[in-house]
Amino acid sequence: MCGIVAAVAQRDVADILVEGLKRLEYRGYDSAGIAVIENNAFKRIRRVGKVQQLSNSLAEQPLSGSTGIAHTRWATHGEPNEANAHPHLSEDHIAVVHNGIIENHQELKQQLKEKGYHFSSDTDSEVIAHLVEDELKTTSSLLAAVQAVCKKLTGAYGAVILDRRDNQRMVAARSGSPLIIGSGIGENFVASDQMALLPVTHRFTFLEEGDVAEITRSTITIYNADGEQVERECKDSDISHDIAEKGEYRHFMLKEIYEQPAAIQATLADRLSGELPAAEIFGPKAADILSEIEAVQIIACGTSYNAGMVARYWFEEIAGIPCQVEVASEFRYRKAAILPNSLLVTLSQSGETADTLAALRLAKQLGFRSTISICNVPGSSLVRESDLVYMMNAGPEIGVASTKAFTVQLVALMLLVCVIAEFRGADKAGLKELIRELRRIPEKIQNTLKLAQQIETLAEDFAEKHHSLFLGRGSHYPIALEGALKLKEISYIHAEAYAAGELKHGPLALIDSEMPVIVVAPNNLLLEKLKSNMEEVRARGGKLYVFADHGAEISSVDGITMIPIGDINELLSPILYVVPLQLLSYFVAVIKGTDVDQPRNLAKSVTVE
Ligand code: G6P
Repeated sequence: MCGIVAAVAQRDVADILVEGLKRLEYRGYDSAGIAVIENNAFKRIRRVGKVQQLSNSLAEQPLSGSTGIAHTRWATHGEPNEANAHPHLSEDHIAVVHNGIIENHQELKQQLKEKGYHFSSDTDSEVIAHLVEDELKTTSSLLAAVQAVCKKLTGAYGAVILDRRDNQRMVAARSGSPLIIGSGIGENFVASDQMALLPVTHRFTFLEEGDVAEITRSTITIYNADGEQVERECKDSDISHDIAEKGEYRHFMLKEIYEQPAAIQATLADRLSGELPAAEIFGPKAADILSEIEAVQIIACGTSYNAGMVARYWFEEIAGIPCQVEVASEFRYRKAAILPNSLLVTLSQSGETADTLAALRLAKQLGFRSTISICNVPGSSLVRESDLVYMMNAGPEIGVASTKAFTVQLVALMLLVCVIAEFRGADKAGLKELIRELRRIPEKIQNTLKLAQQIETLAEDFAEKHHSLFLGRGSHYPIALEGALKLKEISYIHAEAYAAGELKHGPLALIDSEMPVIVVAPNNLLLEKLKSNMEEVRARGGKLYVFADHGAEISSVDGITMIPIGDINELLSPILYVVPLQLLSYFVAVIKGTDVDQPRNLAKSVTVE
């Protein structure tokens, strides 16, 4: 997590750096700071809270300086206070901003303290500043000092380091946390993400693992982990520089919920020219790979994981291929036995989630036949490191609670399922019917969004509650998981999801009139079973909120509030049923007055493990 922006230029850079931080706030927003070199001294301002707090302070107390670094933080080591905010200094000579976790910081800190270095924060990051300072006692250049320090660090870092005695230079180092260099005319920049730099440049070089770069106004020199000078390609980006605006919407999350029909249309636009998707939509080598695979392993985190959970039902039912799904943080640390000819599917909105990326890297050693990433951010690490790629084209997602990325991931996964199913000899007529129905999803979501007012009223019942239970069965169990995740993320109400059949194995003990139970109940084979589960809740005084279609024949009676959802193809129904749950959590959060787009303690892109 954490966002970094840095510049070496001929003009004052404070405004550029702060604008960059605003664009990186999705990576963390508990404190922010900036340091520029002014008359050979660091001028530093750090503030607790969002980047706007820092921006307000800069308006009162402007900084001038043409070389500087800035940082927006998501606390890992040390609480979010001013002392722990970056940049960190050593002896007033060295300033550092860091994204990642230095795992051996305690040992390094001890050694540095023994040498007389004084620590002014509780962060792991501060060790980098003192280590560089210490190296410079015996090393002639900042570059060489940073290269030497990198060898001492274990863990993950994207870092930019300045020496106030040389305002013409900055050094950037990447290992595990992304960093890109933006090239300008007579000025150069570094950031965690190209979004931060789009107002000043569209030319980017992506640092690779282990790279250290020395950057001046007119030169960029990159060295690999072995210290050899290397060339990294500089690419032009065609991403629009406009920062996403909320427009008429009160929050980004609401805007993104309403963008789902258009986002799904956009993802299908160039992909579906015929009645069935072509394998090539996943890349030029896709047909060879996808025709040979015999098992699928999906790896993801958070909302993306829930999308993978839905897809498991599809892979096995439609394509008849064994599919496993696992959260990346577990998969990466266990000794997984991989089935022959397995395809690794990573799902990620950001393409930078540290655990997912680590799992992908591990997969290369585990003997997967191939890897594919379904991702929304062009040029992200996951996209660059996967064999096959599906770019979601969902447009930027700003709200920390993911919404449109989820439904677009599901659509992309359904396309992948259909391609693999066709290779495995599935009935083509059935697949074509599925794709015809998939094209109608945007219209069906549009109709479901008309329920907003009804859901807003219903949300009032939840505002005073402390706990809630979400139930679903089959491919709607992951929709229950996603509904519960949304509610807890933004309204801070404890929400648990259960496969409804498990109700009597524990959660039934929790049911009373204070525990709302949300049920996802489309009309499918499991409906009658689900109705029995609902009766079990009702008999114990629980209050049910049931999302179901008319065919389910559930009506609002005492203890049951039924919210009608339009008819939809049974296999595709998870894509539709998640939408009212997104709206429910949104309205509950608005009523509770929480920070919907930037909920406490969370971040949009989790680049530390
Ligand atoms: C964070 C975000 C979630 C997201 C998850 C995975 O926890 O707050 O909204 O689902 O990361 O992110 P990814 O970018 O890999 O989909």
